[in-house]
Amino acid sequence: MGLLVAALAMGCKSTPPPTPIANLTPQQAAGHAVFQTRCAVCHYDRQTGALHGPSLLGVFKKPALPSGAAATDERVTATVTHGRNNMPAMAGQMAPGDMDDLLAYLHTL
Ligand code: HEC
Repeated sequence: MGLLVAALAMGCKSTPPPTPIANLTPQQAAGHAVFQTRCAVCHYDRQTGALHGPSLLGVFKKPALPSGAAATDERVTATVTHGRNNMPAMAGQMAPGDMDDLLAYLHTL
């Protein structure tokens, strides 16, 4: 109950919590590993608040990305591929399949 009240106070009322790490599918778990390697240095995934970039908690559960662009696979893929302002382009660093795994993980947040 205390946790629920805290969550409400933090404004998480309409977004369900992320899937627990232990419950991720193999693809989602692979995407978590990609996130840890490529994104975690600049983004929180399971808590609110900005690091170098905005938190990605609930990224696909909200109607829009922080920039206001639609929260779609295509838009997030483009952001990772081409970069955005202070976010570097990562097209050359992702192995084939990494992006699909990463998107699968981001959808659990
Ligand atoms: C070197 C730091 C850095 C890394 C690494 C990084 N990002 Fe970012 N990211 C940023 C910054 C800074 C922004 C804010 C850009 C802006 O809108 O000005 C951002 C913005 C975003 C946004 C919001 C885009 C929008 O339209 O609002 C998404 C989604 C995102 N990053 C996903 C990722 C993912 C997924 C990864 C890993 C593959 C990643 N980022 C890696 C720094 C980083």
